[in-house]
Amino acid sequence: MKKGQNRENLVDQCIVARGGGIGMARIKRLIDLPKVQLNRSDPTPLNRQIERQLRELILSGDLRAQMRLPSTRQLADGLGCSRGTVVGAIEQLIAEGFLISSSRSGTFVVGPLRAAVDRRGDKQAARPVKPVRLSHLGEFLAEARRPTYRPGTAFSTGSPDVADFPFGRWSRLCRSVWRQPPLDAVYNQDPAGYLPLRRAIAAYLHDTRGTRFEPSNVFITSGSQQGLDLVARLLLNEGDLVWMEEPGFIEARYALRSVGAGAVAVPVDSEGLSVTEGRRRAADAKLAIVTPSHQYPMGMIMSYARRMELLDWARQAEAWILEDDYDSESRHSGAPLPALQALDADETVIYMGTFSKALFSSLRIGYLVLPPRLMERFCRARYNLDPFTSLMAQPVLTRFIEDGHFATYIQKIRRKFAARRESVVAAARDYFGDAFEFQGDKAGLYVTAVFSGPLRGRPDDEAARKALAAGVVVAPLSSYYQGPPTAQGLILGFGSIDEKTSRAGMATLSSVIDR
Ligand SMILES: Cc1ncc(COP(=O)(O)O)c(C=O)c1O
Repeated sequence: MKKGQNRENLVDQCIVARGGGIGMARIKRLIDLPKVQLNRSDPTPLNRQIERQLRELILSGDLRAQMRLPSTRQLADGLGCSRGTVVGAIEQLIAEGFLISSSRSGTFVVGPLRAAVDRRGDKQAARPVKPVRLSHLGEFLAEARRPTYRPGTAFSTGSPDVADFPFGRWSRLCRSVWRQPPLDAVYNQDPAGYLPLRRAIAAYLHDTRGTRFEPSNVFITSGSQQGLDLVARLLLNEGDLVWMEEPGFIEARYALRSVGAGAVAVPVDSEGLSVTEGRRRAADAKLAIVTPSHQYPMGMIMSYARRMELLDWARQAEAWILEDDYDSESRHSGAPLPALQALDADETVIYMGTFSKALFSSLRIGYLVLPPRLMERFCRARYNLDPFTSLMAQPVLTRFIEDGHFATYIQKIRRKFAARRESVVAAARDYFGDAFEFQGDKAGLYVTAVFSGPLRGRPDDEAARKALAAGVVVAPLSSYYQGPPTAQGLILGFGSIDEKTSRAGMATLSSVIDR
């Protein structure tokens, strides 16, 4: 065949060496090499096309172990391409371990590749999936509920709507930061994260929440869940007890269970977590997880007296308090509340914040503010687990805060959420009258409607199921309890819905929940 001739189907010849390895071939047999085709309209370079097809032929078993390939010159002639193109493909397959070459005897398919070929064959035959047995912990973690956030759907909870987020500005900041990136961002070795961001967070919290700490005590995490996980791993032993608000953020149990710690449900009342009840149930607990600025999910603010009581207990019990301040930026009116951390004279409070609610959760940036006595140990431990949170967004977020965009944005969404909460409550009054009792401070991205009047005592999970079947997402209040629920109701998220959607959602709800 003439060089340069473009043959569609090249049936080439190959020599099988039987009864020995390279150089030991005694019985030689000519066999057909299945089709190798070059497609010149495909933008894939010719050497890559040859390489890919030969690899497929070897993996499928069409080219068997110990087959000898024709010479590169023969292959090039047959395919109508240059010898260099074929050599490139063959060298790549030699480097990947599919072929072996000897200067005296030629190029051979490496064997045995049978196992790999069999595995591929098995996969293609779609065998029944073998059940996977995870560790006991793995089974528990894998049971965890999956995110059910449905932006734009009434009344899904989760991240806020980003319709007003200044993505243009954010992308300009990304470009400006990464065009000539700060070297401390490129070569970061600090497990606590990017220092300028830690400074910006410390300044922001000092101004808005009255917190007292140095930027060096801010420890960047990939969101609150990771902060919680680190706190559990580094401060708790197997069998230790932890106070958790009831109802509360029950996802915290996954971090506790990971270290074998036990969650003690401590009821909340109108002033927040009942310290008296906590002392009665587990006075010697090692940690209390609380949401003092906006109790999750009942929405009340922890009273000053209760805060002092909690701090007293922690000092006496030599326990830690984890202050989960998940959405305090979005208080709808009035000044943001001082943090519990601001009252802590004994270095017992670990403050935990996140940008998931104020900006968006896929950013995966949160932080812990650690008492100075914990900082160094946390840094070392974090470095050994997962050195630090990605530095791609940290310098951009720093500029976003420093240039005042964060504060402006927060002001804007606070007004928006205040209006949205009003419209959900107004629609609920119209459709449900006094069957819902709204709880909590005007803050955050959800409102909790406790069943009262004609709905008192009705099972909320059944209501949530019916609502979901009708296309409305509501979280049943009972699912936030570890023990038997003392109230039934619905958590109504309004982060990503406008007034029209919320009225339509409420109409659907009222048609599926009978009073
Ligand atoms: C009370 C509370 N704490 C913490 C988190 C976790 O936030 P992050 O996205 O930062 O892990 C959430 C998320 O919904 C939450 O509701």
